[in-house]
Amino acid sequence: MSLGKVFLLHCNRSTHTVIISYNKTMKKRVLSGIRATGRLHLGNYLGAVKGMLDLQNDPEYETLYMVADVHTLTTPFNVEELRQNRREVIIDYLAAGLDPEKSVIFQQSEVNQHLELSFYLSSVVTMAQMQHLPTFKEKIKQYPQHVTMALLNYPILMAADILVYKAGLVPVGLDQEPHLEVAREIARKMNAEYRMDFPEPKRYVTEGEYVPSLKGEGKMGKSVEGSYINLTDSLDEIRRKVRSIPTATQAGGEMTGGLKALFSFADLFLPDNGSSFKEKFDAGTLQFVEIKDAVAEAIFDAVKPIQEKRKELESNPEYINKVVSEGAEKARKIASQTVEEVREKMGLA
Ligand code: TRP
Repeated sequence: MSLGKVFLLHCNRSTHTVIISYNKTMKKRVLSGIRATGRLHLGNYLGAVKGMLDLQNDPEYETLYMVADVHTLTTPFNVEELRQNRREVIIDYLAAGLDPEKSVIFQQSEVNQHLELSFYLSSVVTMAQMQHLPTFKEKIKQYPQHVTMALLNYPILMAADILVYKAGLVPVGLDQEPHLEVAREIARKMNAEYRMDFPEPKRYVTEGEYVPSLKGEGKMGKSVEGSYINLTDSLDEIRRKVRSIPTATQAGGEMTGGLKALFSFADLFLPDNGSSFKEKFDAGTLQFVEIKDAVAEAIFDAVKPIQEKRKELESNPEYINKVVSEGAEKARKIASQTVEEVREKMGLA
């Protein structure tokens, strides 16, 4: 019997206060994930992981954080790299401060219910809806030879990831908003057609949610080489990468993409000095290497404790195994209840 049901039976026979203090479902549920396409970079950290940490450390929330390893199959991938990355991201999570005592930390593919629910949900979504999503169109452009059904199904699987836990809050970057809109639409349809009680998941916004690319165009992302800083980069590597941000000025002194990126890093990592650099820039006396090296050092200070924690974790593979197997077990317990309910309400049980 599931935990939830035990409490329910127990609560029926006891006082109201017991219901409040024992019923775990009173907490707002949070789910998030990052694809297993590589090690985490600074953009993931500021855009998603920081939000995950905030919510994990707030007792009002019950938090579930996964590696979206199945989503990795939606674009070209290498088998051995995937095998490694689905574990590396877990280690990065733990190094960054996700805590298995406070959050359920797991690998998506270990919880079959995500895939099962995703098929049920696909029955309330049209092909046209999926084909018109901006995220789908971007991927088609990027990988014209790999326009697979898995890619078209990406948003439905993501909706299943969230709805299988009836999570109402999702800490992710701004670029994921179209996917959340799909999840909300699916929730509404499932509620209307099959009397489900899915919440309409909302995005949890973090301060550093738009982390610019080091190339001065677009956002920091794993798919563009040279755009990102890894959480594992040394001070020298970070310095080299930050120095590579294009800062050639334009006639008329207008801010280029590279300069804007550099100043937003200064805002994020040197909130106290950012304005003095800006003043020097306006006065035409700013040496770019000066602000670049200051930014690089501040970034390194932020990632250094994560690197130290990671070293510790790398020397303890049994601990990682334990975290993922216990995480998957806890996740399955919740997910299987939702899938059972959906099967029943859709006439499959
Ligand atoms: N699509 C998300 C991204 O690229 C990753 C993801 C998969 C996710 N499933 C999720 C994020 C569920 C939040 C919730 O960042």
